[in-house]
Amino acid sequence: MTTEIFRDFHSPDIPDTVLVQAAELFSNHYGIWNTPAGRPGGKPGTRVKLNVSRLRSQHLPPGARCSYVSVHVDEALAGNVFACRWEYQGRQVCWITQLVVHREYRGRRLATRLIEKLRDIDDEIFGIMSSHPAACIAGSKACAGFPLPHISRHFIQSCAKEVMASSAIPYVRDAKLRGALFSDSATDTEGLISGADTEFYVDHEEPLSALAWIRAHSEWPLGDLPEGHEFLFMCCVRRRVNGHPIKEVTSPA
Ligand SMILES: CC(C)(COP(=O)(O)OP(=O)(O)OC[C@H]1O[C@@H](n2cnc3c(N)ncnc32)[C@H](O)[C@@H]1OP(=O)(O)O)[C@@H](O)C(=O)NCCC(=O)NCCS
Repeated sequence: MTTEIFRDFHSPDIPDTVLVQAAELFSNHYGIWNTPAGRPGGKPGTRVKLNVSRLRSQHLPPGARCSYVSVHVDEALAGNVFACRWEYQGRQVCWITQLVVHREYRGRRLATRLIEKLRDIDDEIFGIMSSHPAACIAGSKACAGFPLPHISRHFIQSCAKEVMASSAIPYVRDAKLRGALFSDSATDTEGLISGADTEFYVDHEEPLSALAWIRAHSEWPLGDLPEGHEFLFMCCVRRRVNGHPIKEVTSPA
């Protein structure tokens, strides 16, 4: 019988031994560089890698309220998620700063369940930037409580800029919002509806193939994915009832 064990940690009490494994998972399973000449990033065709000191500086900066949840399947690290929390106009924001599932364990809803485990009773706003549409779907299921096609794009449009500007995580704070939600000019957006220019030139082959499948089977509300960009997904967090996980519903309450 397969055993799945979820563990959670909170900064500053995240030991290096845990981060060594997280860096290894990221370096082996996150993605591959596809950096154009003259742009920031690694050599095209090589893996995007992280070490413990960059994990700490990028995902766990001093003073920020950060969390980490891992899942081990039969003792192997199968996936993990990093998040940071802060207040925006008196509401607690929970923002995913990294989400990776080992290639052999994808498609078992581990990403969705990692985000569910990460959720705190006081979270009110959830956000993620990701080039992988499955990460946005997982966030929507775990936090909004309904499928992605039902999200409120108006919510993203109305508060993304201010919520993100108040983050302690530089890559969230400095992301340039892009897409039809944030621009009057359709020509600027290259088909993107909600996203950010993060200058992160990770290869899009896998996310685009997932996107094609998703679009063939359902609606996709965040648009196309230009190079160097990530989708931006945000929602209001649906409250748990009596501490029980949310049940999926078919439309927003
Ligand atoms: C993105 C990632 C974390 C998803 O992990 P996962 O455990 O496979 O995700 P889940 O099983 O929870 O799937 C979430 C949803 O996406 C769908 N999905 C997952 N992979 C998919 C794919 N390749 N094609 C189409 N849909 C997919 C699932 O069916 C599920 O939707 P459903 O609940 O409506 O069925 C994983 O693919 C990954 O680590 N990718 C590389 C790193 C990355 O891009 N991370 C995100 C950046 S922050």
